[in-house]
Amino acid sequence: MEAAAQLGSADTAPIDAIDLRREFEDVEIAPVLAQLDRELVGLAPVKTRIREIASLLLVERIRQKMGLATTFPTLHMSFTGNPGTGKTTVALRMAGILHRLGFVRRGHVISVTRDDLVGQYIGHTAPKTKEVLKKAMGGVLFIDEAYYLYRPENERDYGQEAIEILLQIMEQQREDLVVILAGYGDRMEKFFQSNPGFRSRIGHHIDFPDYSSGELLTIAELMLEEQNYRFTPEARAAFERYIAVRRMQPLFSNARSIRNALDRIRLRQANRLVSRLDRVLTAAEVTSIEAADVLASRVFTRPEAVEMQP
Ligand SMILES: Nc1ncnc2c1ncn2[C@@H]1O[C@H](COP(=O)(O)OP(=O)(O)OP(=O)(O)O)[C@@H](O)[C@H]1O
Ligand SMILES: [Mg+2]
Repeated sequence: MEAAAQLGSADTAPIDAIDLRREFEDVEIAPVLAQLDRELVGLAPVKTRIREIASLLLVERIRQKMGLATTFPTLHMSFTGNPGTGKTTVALRMAGILHRLGFVRRGHVISVTRDDLVGQYIGHTAPKTKEVLKKAMGGVLFIDEAYYLYRPENERDYGQEAIEILLQIMEQQREDLVVILAGYGDRMEKFFQSNPGFRSRIGHHIDFPDYSSGELLTIAELMLEEQNYRFTPEARAAFERYIAVRRMQPLFSNARSIRNALDRIRLRQANRLVSRLDRVLTAAEVTSIEAADVLASRVFTRPEAVEMQP
């Protein structure tokens, strides 16, 4: 396989010592890990696991150069956690890391759900699944809510066909494709129980915890900063209250709910500014989110109502 060839081949002279630092610097993995730390709030256990995997793969790479490795490491993963906890975001980063370390040729991510793999009619599933796999080769195939592939209540469900193809490719093309199965913890657990073939092909299970209120506030401030906005101190306090109320409501989706809330807050800010046309606007005003922009949320006025978007 090409990925294996990149890692050193048997016909080069045996090497018995390698400068670890140089090897580490050569793959330029440190900046990627630092960026991950900087740009993703919280997720300490996830970041630790990613560092561990990166170390393992670096050592594996060195072992291969020394001609010591016998089997290609199992890189398929499962990401479990509630909505909006960063699974998709981390999958993208993971692909970059795998690519730098030479474990995937291209480092791209193809993100799919059941409907992208399973057809509606007999004979449609295998070509559909194979097409997706073809696109994903050399990179990462991210299957979101993977448990929807398995519908035991439907006796002749086409999902089963997709499962069988996936299992086969996960085994045979391990050196050219990394599959990440993602979904909510309890459902994934049931899925693995019913499909032990998947569990045995997964090398790394990573659990994504919910964010604390403090982390959600930091995420909000980071998102605002990226878009050149900031809370006034009063708005910040109001948003702290917003988080406390919102996280108790239905359909709360961690960082995703924060992103959606900020979109609506920006809308209200714009409305507030435009409601008084006859004046000169300063940059400070345009960048500033005020308490009123936050407090007009339906989360406060109708706490029982679910906002339009989770
Ligand atoms: N730790 C974090 N720091 C900063 N932003 C984050 C963090 N986690 C998630 N986000 C942001 O929150 C949004 C949702 O994250 P993401 O899509 O990765 O979550 P998910 O776990 O895949 O959710 P779902 O289960 O709903 O697909 C994205 O816009 C992402 O940039
Ligand atoms: Mg996602």
